[in-house]
Amino acid sequence: MPIRFEPSCRQFRLRAGGTDYIMAVAPGGYLAHVYFGEAVPDEDLTALLRLDENPFTPETNDRDRAVYLDTLPLEYPCYGIGDFREPAFKIRAADGTSACDLRYVSHRITEGKPEIPGLPATFPAKDSPCDTLEILLADQKTGLEVTLCYTAFRELDAIARSVRVKNNGSEKCTLTRVYSAAFDLDRSDLHMITLNGSWARERMVERCRLHHGKQSVDSMRGCSSHQYSPFAALCEPCADEERGEVFGSCFVYSGNFTILAEVTQHDAVRFVMGINDADFSWELSSGEEFCAPEAVLVRSSNGIGGMSRTFHDLFRKNLIRSQYVDRPRPVLINNWEATYFDFDEEKLLSIAREASSLGIEMLVMDDGWFGHRDDDNSSLGDWTVYEKKLPSGLGSLSEKLRAMGMELGIWFEPEMISPDSELYRLHPDWAVQISGRPMTLCRGQYVLDLTRREIADHVWEMMRRVLDSAEISYVKWDMNRQITEAASQGLPAGRQGEFWHRYILAVYELMERLVSRYPELLLETCAGGGGRFDAGMLYYSPQIWCSDDTDAIERLRIQYGTSLCFPCSAIGAHVSDCPNHTVGRSTPFSTRGHAALAGTFGYELDVTRISAEDRVQIPGQISDYRKYGGLVRSGDLYRIGDPFTDGQWDGWIFAAKDGSQALFAYFQILGRPNRRSRRVKLRGLDPKAYYFEESSPERRFSGAYLMNCGINIGGLWGDFQSRLYHFIKCKG
Ligand code: DGJ
Repeated sequence: MPIRFEPSCRQFRLRAGGTDYIMAVAPGGYLAHVYFGEAVPDEDLTALLRLDENPFTPETNDRDRAVYLDTLPLEYPCYGIGDFREPAFKIRAADGTSACDLRYVSHRITEGKPEIPGLPATFPAKDSPCDTLEILLADQKTGLEVTLCYTAFRELDAIARSVRVKNNGSEKCTLTRVYSAAFDLDRSDLHMITLNGSWARERMVERCRLHHGKQSVDSMRGCSSHQYSPFAALCEPCADEERGEVFGSCFVYSGNFTILAEVTQHDAVRFVMGINDADFSWELSSGEEFCAPEAVLVRSSNGIGGMSRTFHDLFRKNLIRSQYVDRPRPVLINNWEATYFDFDEEKLLSIAREASSLGIEMLVMDDGWFGHRDDDNSSLGDWTVYEKKLPSGLGSLSEKLRAMGMELGIWFEPEMISPDSELYRLHPDWAVQISGRPMTLCRGQYVLDLTRREIADHVWEMMRRVLDSAEISYVKWDMNRQITEAASQGLPAGRQGEFWHRYILAVYELMERLVSRYPELLLETCAGGGGRFDAGMLYYSPQIWCSDDTDAIERLRIQYGTSLCFPCSAIGAHVSDCPNHTVGRSTPFSTRGHAALAGTFGYELDVTRISAEDRVQIPGQISDYRKYGGLVRSGDLYRIGDPFTDGQWDGWIFAAKDGSQALFAYFQILGRPNRRSRRVKLRGLDPKAYYFEESSPERRFSGAYLMNCGINIGGLWGDFQSRLYHFIKCKG
């Protein structure tokens, strides 16, 4: 069993791939963090806890309890009992006090992994098994029981953590912070990598040296956000794409979060991750339970690239439930950047006709098909067909598309309500609001209070009616504003702090209804582009619209950052028109195709209006997608360029896990004068095997040659040029 308990030293050992995660029950019954690193032989490691070192205090050199707790590396630190570092757990007991003292009670080890009720989470898979350790801690005074769950994946250097709290006392208790993961590393010479940005430039990679005090990223926007991704990595200063130890963490959650690293007085690092507690409280009556979402920890000895490949494998095998995870997705054309709100059936059909003749398989009708929506100021909540645009309805549109060999996809924004809508006129109280305060209008809309059952049921009923009315193969679930004046009329005053988390639980429940009732449906989630690109969403949707910025060059950076944690097969990426609508840049059509290939691949333009020169490239691009899509979905990603620091070029490789082939895409971002060809070393090949590049099969290279000597890339003229190379292993 990869999880073991050694009674003599009261030590737990989780082995996940080549990583050990070790904890021990320390004197006093505190659960201590012993080791997180490369797998080591089985022995007593509790010396790492430095229990024999007495920290100096002015009054006494005894290790009194406060000093002991303030230096002991802990697994789940509580507020108020002598550990003055960042706590993971905080309460308001019936007597109004906040301290809590959790001590070890018992544990159990099981094969597989239990589900977390109502929340997305990783699961055991046939080709990626796992085992779970549950450690029960309890606070004597309040009767609170906290179960820390650790799942170790046998073949992957990954550990999933979550927390369950039960009130076993007789009095009500309010939880004011329940983080999902915490650990203390006995070193501080680390860098922290985070993914930060804004609308249309999400997940830019930032790396900073840790310093004394606290560094954090978070969201209080009601979604994981464009601004900060619920991901962070700690790494050795020397770590790069291939070398160095890296500790990655990702929160499987789509709402408010906090990730924080604190360098302490003794040069150790405390790391915590969980639901943001800024406006959080959760009341637990006697006998009630609360489940905190899952946090995933990944360790790599092979640099940042190694960490990413483990996240990708884990998410593809153990998180994305959709059957599309490893299936080719239909090549779609989305009408958003082609028409925005200005479309009708005839315009859509003319785009579809042309698209279908080029090999495109699905038309996605984006925003504007319902109510009387001609711009973004009306109709959200009125999910009935806008007859002016679609006089013969959705059924007829889907039939006409089918007749030309195309499927229909459709856009929804189920969480929202426009003030100019039938729904709002009937139920103004259904919008999230604080009575007596002005309501903030964002993009002309309010948020529906989905925490109220009747509202969530109504939204579901509306969606279900639409989806049953026609053959619809795909849904894009959008979310275009953040939450303000957070409150619910369904909650009493003392429980308003539960709103934020209850809101996300309600979104998950709606998504659960959708994917259970329509298992064949391809769901793509979206939030004004990349505002909710997180592992929670991936549990429901195999792909997420990555950014509203569709410019190929901007996408190199956005997709690079996104791929640090998330698999490229989940990155919604389309070829769009030029000059690009977001940045005004013009790039070659082929470069746009190559950038979209490292994602789900599709189109977002009016095919009837682009140049003939661009249009003729579409069938070839689609056949590239068919040929290489499997490698993107199941291969190993190697980022060999760096669009952040160099800015001159970028490149990525998808290598088959068995070393049989690799696709290499090279992007010359800016042309340079008087420059020779660029030497680029490949990655992910079998060093002992021989390969040929498909376009010149007569020349053979060993994998070792390609990876150590590299290939010369020349002959690219101008800015924003790109080229694909396909290396295939020689037979025999
Ligand atoms: C934001 C999305 O990211 C876009 O692709 C588009 O669907 C618009 N919303 C529609 O309002």
